[in-house]
Amino acid sequence: MSFLQIKNLHKSYGNVPILKDINIEIDEGGFLVLVGPSGCGKSTLLNTIAGLEPISSGDISIKGKSINGLHPSKRDIAMVFQSYALYPNMTVGGNIAFGMEIRGVPKEEREKAIKQVADMLQIGHLLDRKPSQLSGGQRQRVAMGRALVRNPQVFLFDEPLSNLDAKLRVDMRTEIKRLHQRMKTTIVYVTHDQIEAMTLATKIAVLKDGILQQFGTPADIYNNPTNLFVADFMGSPAMNLLKAKIEGGASDLSVVLDRPDSSPLRLPLKKSNSSLVSHSGKDVIFGIRPEALTDPDGADRNATSLVEGECLIDVVEPAGSDTFAVTKLGSKEVVARLRADAHILPGQKTQLSFNLDKAVFFDPTSQLRIGA
Ligand SMILES: Nc1ncnc2c1ncn2[C@@H]1O[C@H](COP(=O)(O)OP(=O)(O)OP(=O)(O)O)[C@@H](O)[C@H]1O
Ligand SMILES: [Mg+2]
Repeated sequence: MSFLQIKNLHKSYGNVPILKDINIEIDEGGFLVLVGPSGCGKSTLLNTIAGLEPISSGDISIKGKSINGLHPSKRDIAMVFQSYALYPNMTVGGNIAFGMEIRGVPKEEREKAIKQVADMLQIGHLLDRKPSQLSGGQRQRVAMGRALVRNPQVFLFDEPLSNLDAKLRVDMRTEIKRLHQRMKTTIVYVTHDQIEAMTLATKIAVLKDGILQQFGTPADIYNNPTNLFVADFMGSPAMNLLKAKIEGGASDLSVVLDRPDSSPLRLPLKKSNSSLVSHSGKDVIFGIRPEALTDPDGADRNATSLVEGECLIDVVEPAGSDTFAVTKLGSKEVVARLRADAHILPGQKTQLSFNLDKAVFFDPTSQLRIGA
């Protein structure tokens, strides 16, 4: 049985529908990450789980019991808000301890818990200050500390790291992962950060305009996006999505891409599925992630269908651990990810290796993945 279940959830503000028929379930100890563009309904969904916003229809249950009618304080859920929601008149220490005080936790135990989270969040030196005397990032960590000293059934986090600088953000991400491994509490977490989503989640839900686009493991979402929106939204740098044509039949199927100043590039598809064959002669969108398009020496040795094609390199961007190269295919810019020391110059034609094991195809009309 799933631990947290959201079933046919609809939520409107007035007569404006915000969340439309959301169905999500996670196991106990799962880490669900909600992603999607600004305004798609992520915070609203968290608020309905917390009980801060009533739902219009559907059901939310924990351990098989509906929590719809339950007051927020009775849900045993701790939430870190996007807006922090700290008590302005209390010190940082007071803010963190407040919930424990209410529950009558003895002073000694409270102090120990405060010290533990303050160390972890690197806010030990701020405990006597008021929230108004803190930076945005510090406030965010205090809000997080306040949730962490509790031991709830579910944690809800609304972009808890969005105000931190890059270094602290990475440290905190590791800390949250460690915390989750240790406490095994079920977490629902909203973020805009692709890497945060991929590294923390056991399941990712991608929302757009209040509609759940895909719900699956990070690998699922990354490798098998159900539609063009998910393919484009998840991953950084983004998946290359190119206009292409499918040609041939089951035994000689290939994908054909326009190239500037050359004949079209024809890549034979070894692993063709019947739904792709049925698109022969038609336009498709060919999706390939930058890491599946490399210098031939850097290609994945375990790949079963590597195909080389000559590409005119436009721009070369060394990024330390890798070098990104931009070329043009299917009348769009394409990013390839090469080894850092790959010899490549702008203006040159060079062989790039396409790992077609990792290619995905979409129907340009329905926007859905072909063969999904
Ligand atoms: N109290 C409210 N009354 C009316 N509309 C609201 C209310 N709160 C949110 N909305 C609307 O609901 C939609 C979803 O908002 P929500 O805050 O859930 O988005 P979000 O995905 O969290 O966005 P962001 O990434 O910017 O935080 C938005 O169009 C927003 O304007
Ligand atoms: Mg939000």
